[in-house]
Amino acid sequence: MILVTGGLGYIGSHACVALTQAGERLVVLDNLSNAKRSVLERLRELCPDAILDFCEADVRDRGALARVFAAHRVEAVLHFAGLKSVAESVARPLLYYDNNVGGSLALVEAMLAAGVERIVFSSSATVYGPPLSLPHREDHPTAPHNPYGRAKRMVEELLADVARAQPGFRYVALRYFNPIGAHPSGRIGEDPRGEPNNLLPFVTQVAVGRRARLRIHGDDYPTADGTGVRDYLHVMDLAEGHLAALARLRAGGGSLVANLGTGRGHSVREVLAAFERTTGVRVPFEVGPRRAGDLPACWADPSLAERELGWRARRTLEEACRDAWRWQCDNPAGYPD
Ligand code: NAD
Ligand code: WQD
Repeated sequence: MILVTGGLGYIGSHACVALTQAGERLVVLDNLSNAKRSVLERLRELCPDAILDFCEADVRDRGALARVFAAHRVEAVLHFAGLKSVAESVARPLLYYDNNVGGSLALVEAMLAAGVERIVFSSSATVYGPPLSLPHREDHPTAPHNPYGRAKRMVEELLADVARAQPGFRYVALRYFNPIGAHPSGRIGEDPRGEPNNLLPFVTQVAVGRRARLRIHGDDYPTADGTGVRDYLHVMDLAEGHLAALARLRAGGGSLVANLGTGRGHSVREVLAAFERTTGVRVPFEVGPRRAGDLPACWADPSLAERELGWRARRTLEEACRDAWRWQCDNPAGYPD
């Protein structure tokens, strides 16, 4: 059995589909703080023969965790549960330290108490902070410049310290770059609450008529066309990266920290052009000021994941735009309540 915390969220739900299609039996734990219960119905629709148990609980709830581990023979944990807004973390740092660090602490304690010693952790490229060089290799210094990134680095360090103290304990921390897109069925996808922070869900909400226009946050960056450059990774490639990490741990592979990205950066204008080319839908936009905290450019060197996990991104930016658009067209208002 694999415990998937945060498994009804954007990335976790896509990982659940990939895992069940690979024959894994899952128990999902989610407190629904940023997900709707209807996601579970979609997962069961997509994976009708899967063993997919669900526990509505907070990963900080030690009693609930003990009950989950007592009721299921958990072999490994995929830990997606966490808050992910950089801006919110700046405004509410203690919430992020409590939820993301405190939640991981409670989870690892419950794992060790139950004799579970394998975990895949959702880390983030934000641990790097302003790049000294690009593309980002894993040995680039980590200097996160917001509480969200600092919390991710703290959990990476927590896992490393536990692995040093408990010889049998092994982990893979995956530093995601910019996940985008949706499952090709259009039945699950990215459904941010309120106004999207991230680029592609904002684009698809403009394209479907939920919003008037996209605001490009600055076009005076030192990049080819002046707009921000990021490494956009199809969420299904990202999901498959978790299967590869699980396989490594099962095969007795050592602990690892690895970037998951395509190794290629695209600017905001390039994403917009790819979306319009792929969907045939024009997206009205205006150029506004830079967004506080944004970096000019950030993209991955994914060669360590390729070498150590046998993983690399296979899907294109255009495929991600196509799949994101299908999800948005089929679900103009997102998931039903
Ligand atoms: P998401 O908000 O869609 O999913 C997170 C899920 O965790 C939600 O279903 C939420 O209800 C649940 N959750 C949050 N706190 C919880 C708690 N205390 N107990 C139980 N459940 C809890 O976010 P996502 O985009 O799927 O991200 C998943 C993970 O990947 C997060 O840890 C995030 O920090 C990380 N990550 C995301 C991105 C990105 O751009 N989406 C990039 C890098 C890293
Ligand atoms: C991408 C580019 C924006 C929206 C965020 C989180 C980070 C990680 C990944 C969790 C930038 C531009 C965006 C818009 C725009 N999540 N943009 N108009 O900023 O790289 O990182 O997601 O780990 O923590 O901070 O992604 O999608 O917000 O922005 O012009 O309406 O699109 O300026 O250049 P980002 P993003």
